[in-house]
Amino acid sequence: MSSIPVRLGILGCGNVGAALVKIVLEDQALIESQTGEVLEIAAIAVKDLSIERPEWIPRAVLTDDPVSVVRDPSIDIVVEVIGGHDPAKSLIEEALRFKKTVVTANKALLAEFGEELSLLARSHGRDVFFEAAVAGGIPLIRSLRVSLAAERVRRVTGIVNGTTNFILSRMSEDGVSYEDALKSAQELGYAEADPSADVEGMDASAKAAILASIAFGRKVQLKDVFREGITSVTLSDFAFAKRHGYTLKLLAICELVERSPGEEGSIAVRVHPAMVPVTHPLASVRDAFNAVFVEGDAVGELMFYGRGAGGMPTASAVLGDIIDAAHNLRHGSMERHVARPAARMLAIDELEYEFYIAVDVVDRPGVLAQVATVFGNNGVSIRSMEQVGLGSEARLIFITHLAKERAVQRTLGEVRNLEAVKRLVGFIRVLGS
Ligand SMILES: NC(=O)c1ccc[n+]([C@@H]2O[C@H](COP(=O)([O-])OP(=O)(O)OC[C@H]3O[C@@H](n4cnc5c(N)ncnc54)[C@H](OP(=O)(O)O)[C@@H]3O)[C@@H](O)[C@H]2O)c1
Repeated sequence: MSSIPVRLGILGCGNVGAALVKIVLEDQALIESQTGEVLEIAAIAVKDLSIERPEWIPRAVLTDDPVSVVRDPSIDIVVEVIGGHDPAKSLIEEALRFKKTVVTANKALLAEFGEELSLLARSHGRDVFFEAAVAGGIPLIRSLRVSLAAERVRRVTGIVNGTTNFILSRMSEDGVSYEDALKSAQELGYAEADPSADVEGMDASAKAAILASIAFGRKVQLKDVFREGITSVTLSDFAFAKRHGYTLKLLAICELVERSPGEEGSIAVRVHPAMVPVTHPLASVRDAFNAVFVEGDAVGELMFYGRGAGGMPTASAVLGDIIDAAHNLRHGSMERHVARPAARMLAIDELEYEFYIAVDVVDRPGVLAQVATVFGNNGVSIRSMEQVGLGSEARLIFITHLAKERAVQRTLGEVRNLEAVKRLVGFIRVLGS
């Protein structure tokens, strides 16, 4: 059993930082008996010392000088739970230069600078751990990075944003509008006052970039991710989905696309709402839960499920990283790091899906034929069609056969220009097998 404490410098004492301090202090005996590590909180850096903190936060180690923490020679591991780019990035870099191992939960930073920070850590003989950056408490990153390191992963499909899953669950189950569902998410503390990072898909895109980098061993950055949020999903989309055996989820999909055997595949990463067959395991993931479905050649299908956010679940993942970091420091070992060359990205235009498309048209003879002709002229074949009367208008709802995004976008452009078409009211990709 080890007796020399590993000294932690924690940057940030918000939701995650405060929960981490609570677990480390309350579970000291358990941590030592299960892992052999003794953790000591040497410093906690915050922005504003005058803010009232939970009663378990030790006042004596609080500071508003994070730079002094990352430079402190007595600190072994720096835990960054501030979030965002600045000053988190410069603090992590400085910590690595001062030979600290870094544990971070910062998806925004990793989605853009993950490879850069890993290389910097490597050059100083240290590690950067980031289990908590994707899907909070779910042990997903380590599974992909370690257990599935040599697996040929074909696809990773995830519900990685709890806020949007909560909103979509309320719309689906309670029949409330997007606006009302967002309001209850805000009242329950699932959504921020400014919800755009969640509802516009930014948060999920950062996580998708990190997942794709690890799953495929290539450098994928936030700018490589196609993104569409949930703000235009309507109750009418849900009604159609229900009638036809689907539900609606915001998905992060990371895919390896191989044109021919032996050729290096391209990577496509996208975040958008999708019609998910109710028989798919992801369809049953409700409320603020996260789940990630991994498909690999040898392993087959795997599903990871749990709480993707919240102070305690996220702190649990951070603590797991701290234990690994402490072990490596003690034994002079490091995590395996293989440099990730830039990914060959495939634009969404080139991908094929089935599509759900709904348009409101003037209700008169011949209009359906006009719309169907535009689909046909662009090589987009219709799998099923439904017409719903709306007084002087009618809603035409199509599910296409597999079609290229580019052809479907061209179709939509032309359909919108038809005199009889009033508006496009639904456009959602269907999750294929
Ligand atoms: N919350 C979650 O459920 C969750 C889940 C997964 C990952 N994460 C990630 O975990 C990280 C932390 O999230 P959080 O929810 O705990 O954030 P938070 O509640 O906003 O806390 C941020 C903390 O950082 C401190 N801080 C801000 N600027 C600082 C500066 N310049 N110097 C020192 N401290 C500074 C703040 O200090 P004050 O307290 O003085 O304001 C606060 O204690 C983020 O990267 C987030 O993406 C969070």
